[in-house]
Amino acid sequence: MAVTLRRDRPAQIVAWAVLSTFFLGFFLPIIGAFTGPILGAWFIGTQRPRRGFLWMMAINLVTSLLFGWRRIPLAGPVPAIEYLGWLLLATALGTLPFSFHRLVSPRMPGFLATLPLPLAGAAVPWLALQLHIHAASAASVQTLLILWFAAVVVWLWNNESRATVHVFASGVAVVTGFNLLRHFNAAAIPQNIPVSPQLPLNLAGPTCLALFLVLAVWALFRSIRQASWAERPEAVARLRSPFTGDPLQVVSQNGQEALVSASGERFPVRNGIPALLKAEDLTGDNGKYNHLYDLIGGFYNDTQRAYSPLKGFDLRDYFLSYMRLLEVKPGDSVLETSVGTGLNFRYLPSGVHLSGLDLSPEMLAQCQANLRRWKMDADLYLCNAESLPFADSSFDVVFHVGGINFFNDRAKAIREMIRVAKPGSLLCIADETEKHVKEVYEKGLGGYYKNRKEAVAAPIDLIPPEMEDIRLEPLKFDMFYALTFRKPAIRSASERGANEDVAVDRSLVSA
Ligand SMILES: C[S@@+](CC[C@H](N)C(=O)[O-])C[C@H]1O[C@@H](n2cnc3c(N)ncnc32)[C@H](O)[C@@H]1O
Repeated sequence: MAVTLRRDRPAQIVAWAVLSTFFLGFFLPIIGAFTGPILGAWFIGTQRPRRGFLWMMAINLVTSLLFGWRRIPLAGPVPAIEYLGWLLLATALGTLPFSFHRLVSPRMPGFLATLPLPLAGAAVPWLALQLHIHAASAASVQTLLILWFAAVVVWLWNNESRATVHVFASGVAVVTGFNLLRHFNAAAIPQNIPVSPQLPLNLAGPTCLALFLVLAVWALFRSIRQASWAERPEAVARLRSPFTGDPLQVVSQNGQEALVSASGERFPVRNGIPALLKAEDLTGDNGKYNHLYDLIGGFYNDTQRAYSPLKGFDLRDYFLSYMRLLEVKPGDSVLETSVGTGLNFRYLPSGVHLSGLDLSPEMLAQCQANLRRWKMDADLYLCNAESLPFADSSFDVVFHVGGINFFNDRAKAIREMIRVAKPGSLLCIADETEKHVKEVYEKGLGGYYKNRKEAVAAPIDLIPPEMEDIRLEPLKFDMFYALTFRKPAIRSASERGANEDVAVDRSLVSA
């Protein structure tokens, strides 16, 4: 039964209201004072630590210069350069608490993950003042509360809590109301409510520093355990070298695992993910889009989550519009090629064995983090969907969503999906239509999608003729297509015609 995408107007209004608040924050300091830290804590959490620090420095510097250029002393080059030097230092000191939060918070359990930002927010300026760095000023109670509020909102958002919007809206209402009251009617605020008291420096600074250090040390020793590949015999049994087709085995040296073949190939396992790539896999369009996904990997989930309510449709309906096409039974082994951040896995029934592969290490790192958060498990591989590292007929269900339009060799990727699927299984390929690429991607990510060799089209002509039940259907306001087909079941000799052979094997792939 087809899933119709429901319009959700109330959610759409809320989404636009939240977006507008963040937008206003760039122009109204009264709002920017708390939308800024939320954006900062969110943004840095989507990035690798070093890249996040550098990007945040750059963004903060540019906004300071844009909105505060009048303050640059123009009396001569020396004062101007000196001013810019201090600005750089102040920006670095302002960015450091966010970077420390980025390093410590992901390793903290539950609500404790919200503490590193406010603690570092008090500790860093205190330390700077002890070192006579005058670009710093001591944190006020209000600053700490705002930093904590930012960390809480981002934590709720990352945990996909429905309370995110309520907490955000309540915080915005309280702080804006209080600030407005203070601005327009200072006498109405009772004298005994301190508006923004400085923390008692000699006490709060060292206490926050000590607490932050305790959390940091704890985080350091709370290593995130990756399941060893030696503990996954079923997955290893179906692994093959994507280049020679040889079976692979797990070896371990100095605690570092690798997959090796009898012919001497060696594939490292990095952060629990086997890397089964050759340099050629990253050439042409594959290389171009790999660059894109490594750049946006950290934002990918959030863009999906924010885009749907802004557009006014239910994200769950969208996922189900193609996931409902799969034929999945309890206990099945399921493979998604180009798994990205693993979003589709949540729409599969529990009790199935999940495998996913992708060309982008960043997307896979996000996938690992998502799976941990969702308490799910999957075998993940860094490899090219055009050369799958699995034995023939390994999986009960094989599907692909969202990447194939821009693969170097779509036909090869489809033949590979067929090769690793068990006979009789239904395969599904879904991706954007030309309409979507033109209306959304060309506008948003122009450089990557303009000047294409050809318009995108569902690869129905690339499905081998021996496949059965070939069906193509439009999804999501004609923005997506879904193509399904069945790999023929193996029939007994008497059922088969004399010259008929339906098996799809590796020779087809290299053809
Ligand atoms: C739009 S994302 C889709 C991710 C996921 N399937 C989803 O529906 O959310 C496309 C993914 O295809 C991956 N990709 C692109 N070319 C690939 C290739 N040749 N082999 C494997 N993955 C590839 C990208 O790295 C990216 O993660």
